[in-house]
Amino acid sequence: MKKAKIIAVANQKGGVAKTTTVINIGAGLALKDKKVLLVDTDNQSHLSRFLGYDGTDGNPTISELIFQTVSKVKKPVSEAIRKSELGVDYIPSNFMLAGIISILGTDSDSTGVFSRLFSDGTFDKYDYIIIDCPPTLDLLVSNALKACDKVLIPVQSDYWAYEGVDQLLATLQRVKQTNDIKPYVLGMLVTMFNKRTNSAKAIMEAMNESYGSFVFENAIAFRDEVKVATIEHKSLVGKKSSVTGQQYMAVVDEIIGKEGQVNG
Ligand SMILES: Nc1ncnc2c1ncn2[C@@H]1O[C@H](COP(=O)(O)OP(=O)(O)OP(=O)(O)O)[C@@H](O)[C@H]1O
Ligand SMILES: [Mg+2]
Repeated sequence: MKKAKIIAVANQKGGVAKTTTVINIGAGLALKDKKVLLVDTDNQSHLSRFLGYDGTDGNPTISELIFQTVSKVKKPVSEAIRKSELGVDYIPSNFMLAGIISILGTDSDSTGVFSRLFSDGTFDKYDYIIIDCPPTLDLLVSNALKACDKVLIPVQSDYWAYEGVDQLLATLQRVKQTNDIKPYVLGMLVTMFNKRTNSAKAIMEAMNESYGSFVFENAIAFRDEVKVATIEHKSLVGKKSSVTGQQYMAVVDEIIGKEGQVNG
């Protein structure tokens, strides 16, 4: 049976375009006929709300799935999976997730709960499971990093977003219990890039110097159309006239190009 490739989209710095990247990479992979599940692990629920979740359908969210996994309650995980108009499925989060960290802490394998959750056969039908991480380095993120095949790190062309990458990689190293994290890094994606500014050029240079071939060849430009798309709850990848949509599609092609290495 086919196993989904799990990609965690993480950077503990807030507002670096994690959720925007999850949406556009997810919708882009779906346009390439991949079966995609997006998972919201942020109690801000931005991804869930973007995809149309309003918290009223009564079905379980990621919070209940985590609780069930820790307490070994056997209930079908499929009840937590919704369909979206973007052509991707998703598992939403809600405010309860804020309290779930303490429940994770009670598990004897407190960073391995997501690995157990996503080993359920229900997830085998997906080509990709993409986890939208919160802007933290807490137990939820450690769980996502441990469960993932690869991590994608959006780095806004800003010094603090760049500076946080080493700390994230150190966490990855710790949860994967290895000194060689190369097989687990899908890439660093420079976002909100303004090629006219010296600061953006400096961050891009520093990224290439520090992380070399891990940096995606395609960067995502800073453009108002992304903010408008967030307001309108639309992805940009299906829109031929969208510069950012085309840039995200180019990143999707890079990801598919790296496919052979995803489980490596
Ligand atoms: N390329 C871009 N150009 C302009 N604005 C962007 C771009 N990418 C994202 N944004 C905007 O920046 C804001 C933050 O983006 P997003 O929510 O994706 O970041 P995040 O890393 O998920 O944030 P958080 O850490 O709070 O989860 C949003 O308003 C989004 O529309
Ligand atoms: Mg987000």
